[in-house]
Amino acid sequence: MYLTKEEQEMCDGEYGETIRKSMDILVALGDIYGASKLVDITSAQVSGVSYKTIGEAGLEYLQDLAQDGSGKATINASLNPPGTDLDNWKELGFPEYFAIKQNEIVDAYANLGIAKTCTCTPYLVGNVPRFRDHVSWSESSAVAYVNSVIGARSNREGGPAALAAAIVGKTPLYGFHLDQNRKANLVVDVTTELSGADFGALGYIIGKFVGGGIPYFKLQNTPNNNNLKTLGAALASSGSVALYHVEDVTPEFNNNHVEEIEDIMFITDKEITETRESLTTTDKEIDLVCLGCPHASLEEIKEVASVVKGKTIKNKLWICTSVSVKATADRMGYTQIIEAAGGNIVCDTCMVVAPIEEMGFEVIGVNSAKAANYVPSMCGLDVVYGDVENLIQFE
Ligand code: F3S
Repeated sequence: MYLTKEEQEMCDGEYGETIRKSMDILVALGDIYGASKLVDITSAQVSGVSYKTIGEAGLEYLQDLAQDGSGKATINASLNPPGTDLDNWKELGFPEYFAIKQNEIVDAYANLGIAKTCTCTPYLVGNVPRFRDHVSWSESSAVAYVNSVIGARSNREGGPAALAAAIVGKTPLYGFHLDQNRKANLVVDVTTELSGADFGALGYIIGKFVGGGIPYFKLQNTPNNNNLKTLGAALASSGSVALYHVEDVTPEFNNNHVEEIEDIMFITDKEITETRESLTTTDKEIDLVCLGCPHASLEEIKEVASVVKGKTIKNKLWICTSVSVKATADRMGYTQIIEAAGGNIVCDTCMVVAPIEEMGFEVIGVNSAKAANYVPSMCGLDVVYGDVENLIQFE
């Protein structure tokens, strides 16, 4: 990979150890994937934040990287969800040992200049690239969103690579950064109208089929941004989709020669219904309904508030989101309505990266196919998949 004189000096340690180690990662990646050079980025989103997933080794790596203070993120960079609500972990019942470690991890990232905006939907709260910007994001659902809905360009980075890119302000130029790699190779013709959790079921089916491919959807009804984040999260979890197009909706749909794509798949109401049913793993009662995967938008919180207003929830309810979205929900009175019904808006974390298996829960109700896919494998708990109205039980 070609390096400028300045980049070579970074590799040689002339800008300090943090930058040298970061360049090591970027150059190795560039060489593996045949990148021609590094390209400037405007944004980074760094995963590998929960103590549950990175543990002591991850914490030590971050503290070591930050040790000489020689390198900090040079561009807009934010964190993925940690394993706790950073402020209200005690009230919500998170284990103390875990919360202490979790805060050390987030502090270590902050020492490297990564904002404590802990969310998998940074595009809702200030980390919003422009169309065609090169970025380095690592949360898979966010990568799908930033490529597909915003039209910025990111590979599915690992946490350390996104961190290195944030510090250097560059990433290797290959893969989804290049126009020729952003064309669809499968047309998905959906013959039924979709709503709510149907979008997750659709993403789950197609992700499994297409793996790392690029699907082009023809839909009967126009999805909103919440539908698209649900769809992308599912595509990126049952498969490894980083980019999809939706006809007449996403910004690059017109760059595809759809008529030349030979692989066409038809999805009917029957497949959506069967997939929805298959994502439920138990017929036991739900003890925690967990919404906000990917992290909830203000509109989604508003919808839940309207469902629970004036009622008493029988099972527990968490709506996971960022601190910024919750602050607005507080001002709008949604938080008060949800809390009066017995639910909680939980900041920063989510049902997959939190240690919910240590908190006495057994059956989790979710409206996200990504969560339905990961809660059994990462938490060892059962899930019930459905729409908000079916999951929440009232007294
Ligand atoms: Fe976000 Fe957690 Fe889902 S990181 S996409 S809420 S699994």
